[in-house]
Amino acid sequence: MNHLRAVPGADDTASCPTRTYGSATTVRVEAPGKINLFLSAGAPGADGYHPLTTVFQAVRLIETVTARSQSHAAHGSITLSLEKNADGVPADSSNLAVRAARLLADATGVTDGVDLTIRKRIPVAGGMAGGSADAAATLTACNVLWGTELSPDELRDLAAQLGADVPFPLMGATAVGHGRGDQLTPLMTRGRYLWVLAFAAHGGLSTPAVFRRFDELVETRASLAGAAPAEVPERMTSALRTRDARGLAATLHNDLQEAAVSLRPELAEVMAIAESAGALRAIVSGSGPTVAALVPDARVATHVARALAASGLVRDTARVDGPVAGVRMVG
Ligand code: C5P
Repeated sequence: MNHLRAVPGADDTASCPTRTYGSATTVRVEAPGKINLFLSAGAPGADGYHPLTTVFQAVRLIETVTARSQSHAAHGSITLSLEKNADGVPADSSNLAVRAARLLADATGVTDGVDLTIRKRIPVAGGMAGGSADAAATLTACNVLWGTELSPDELRDLAAQLGADVPFPLMGATAVGHGRGDQLTPLMTRGRYLWVLAFAAHGGLSTPAVFRRFDELVETRASLAGAAPAEVPERMTSALRTRDARGLAATLHNDLQEAAVSLRPELAEVMAIAESAGALRAIVSGSGPTVAALVPDARVATHVARALAASGLVRDTARVDGPVAGVRMVG
């Protein structure tokens, strides 16, 4: 990628859609969460990563990152404030959003700092790539705030360095992921799909821990060891092309589900409750523990959300639709 150097100048902000409040300039960017409609994992490579075939759908559970320029007195620091739902999120330099701003600054030679504020809606360590959405939104916001003007391809390269799930929220909609899940190809779909999300009562699951459990489970079935990931079934892409929610339900698949359920056995009951209440199908989202229940309409969504709330097995539920767009500037 090009290593572009920002040249701060009086008219920098004139070409950028930023808002100026007194001496401060603010850029606000939203990024969506994701559900994996399909996830097949192969045996891990030398780098410890599992080769994946996955289908991401961006859903209307939206993170908001606000980036504000600093006075010179701040000496180019990157600061972070977390607005809500952020229990368990580090507010220091290990936060993926702070690492995103630092990576962009280092890649472009920017020495300005930034004050970041994140409003979280995606559950922390929930299998919906909330931290990745924050990082994607931060790259986008700082690229505007600092006038660094990296291209979408350059931003995507930086995103992939931050984590396997970071490139997808830049793109949004529906996409097939290969490699670590970060090599994306957009997938044409029609229609809008409704989901009820069940947020786990007992905190998040660590993605590496779920992949480790997946490896242990695979080892017990020697025939699958060393296997390459499966391809996306044609029945799924055709269901997505023809607004066929029932066809989509029949092909939803997540190789990590068994591992997530073995670490959190109550997830099996959560999925069963959603399906008895009328969901077309319920699956674990990514590495979990969020459960995503595909529903045929708003009435069933209400039934499913009520049944899940009454079970006492979930912290909260949300009704969302997808696909939705990737990162976008707001305000
Ligand atoms: O890339 P990211 O930091 O999000 O990945 C977190 C962890 O999840 C990795 O360190 C790895 O243990 C696991 N992972 C994997 N295979 C992938 C993606 C993630 O094993 N394709």
